[in-house]
Amino acid sequence: MGHATISCSPKGRVSLAVVKFNYLLMSAKIPVGILGATGIVGQRFIQMLEHHPWFEVAWLAASDRSEGKPYAEAACWRLKTAIPPRIAGMRVSAATPDGAPKVIFAALDASIAAEMEPRFAEAGCAVITNSSALRMAKDVPLVIPEVNPDHTKLIECQSWRRKSGGFVVTNSNCSAMGLVLALAPLHKRFELETVMAVTMQAVSGAGYPGVASLDILGNVIPYIAKEEEKMEEETRKLLGTLNGAGVVLAPFKMSAQCNRVAVEDGHTESVSVKFKKKAEAVEIVDAWTTFRGVAQAKKLPSAPDVPVRYLELSDRPQPRFDVDSGNGMTTTVGRLRPCAVLDWKFTVLSHNTIRGAAGAALLNAELLKVEGYLGFPTEGAPSFPSFGKGGIPQLNG
Ligand SMILES: NC(=O)c1ccc[n+]([C@@H]2O[C@H](COP(=O)([O-])OP(=O)(O)OC[C@H]3O[C@@H](n4cnc5c(N)ncnc54)[C@H](OP(=O)(O)O)[C@@H]3O)[C@@H](O)[C@H]2O)c1
Repeated sequence: MGHATISCSPKGRVSLAVVKFNYLLMSAKIPVGILGATGIVGQRFIQMLEHHPWFEVAWLAASDRSEGKPYAEAACWRLKTAIPPRIAGMRVSAATPDGAPKVIFAALDASIAAEMEPRFAEAGCAVITNSSALRMAKDVPLVIPEVNPDHTKLIECQSWRRKSGGFVVTNSNCSAMGLVLALAPLHKRFELETVMAVTMQAVSGAGYPGVASLDILGNVIPYIAKEEEKMEEETRKLLGTLNGAGVVLAPFKMSAQCNRVAVEDGHTESVSVKFKKKAEAVEIVDAWTTFRGVAQAKKLPSAPDVPVRYLELSDRPQPRFDVDSGNGMTTTVGRLRPCAVLDWKFTVLSHNTIRGAAGAALLNAELLKVEGYLGFPTEGAPSFPSFGKGGIPQLNG
């Protein structure tokens, strides 16, 4: 923001008031930190938060390789938009809760996250994470706002919450995300009995520098460590039912096969499903195209107008043309046709670092904010510095 010039003219007083009002609006944003800020997902967070109406990046942390450096020097920036100037000069902090804001977006490897995320929650932070470390923990919500927003209630079961007000909320693995968005409206109407999914996953899903070019160019790698297990269990937790202090997994059979392919962004999946109830093609397409959730009802800033879109074209979706649909937040489905083994088969495409990672966490944070977990009990102007029922003070900047 530019400097205000104090003027005695009535017009000058008006413009000063406007500047002050704008400043108040800006400073009312919730300060957030990013753990793992220099990585592929960390960079997406920075990009998506640049003009965010509710959140403002106030703290960046990464490994001790990056600590103390200006962000632009520490990060090997890999996105098509430039590093926001305010962020480029920010120093990368040590990855400890001292001096960190109370809302943390996390994008660390699972092994590091397993030790670090509880430390931040213990210190009273809301940790909104991409990592798989705690996704399947009984009292940790694994959430997609359009699919299972009620699972955020598990926050109240966490010991960190009781001690310090802090908590952990997770989003799914990038390959489970597109699949679950495509399955959720179908499961609701026709009840899934069996799901089989074969993925073709982009190289950006492996982080940076990720897979060596000599390994992936002109090649397909039919193995991604722990990916199939994650897809199978997370899909059933996301579509499961909240039951007191845990989630009863959705009772369908699921088999996933995961492959890495030479695509930059976007995970494509070939999916076959069997339902308990009879479903016609027109009903399936209707279930997808009319699907909306709390993210759309509450107009969350990062929510796409349409979470799932169906393309009639016989050779789509393709990552090159469709991955950025809905600013990377819409899952595209196509090629619906009968399956000779199960009932129906179709193709799903989802952006792995946006909807499958940073965008997913951001949408979760927006949901938590409107639910009053991030210091502001309802949408709109800040009223009092609370932290849901846990009572962590001073979240507003
Ligand atoms: N890429 C995707 O599409 C995707 C999708 C969904 C979920 N995820 C998950 O998101 C997480 C991050 O993935 P990514 O692709 O962004 O990985 P990445 O590019 O390898 O980035 C890893 C980040 O963690 C930091 N880091 C490493 N060791 C650390 C330590 N000891 N202490 C603090 N920070 C440390 C790195 O900092 P330095 O730069 O200083 O080393 C870097 O900022 C992973 O759990 C991944 O499974 C990724």
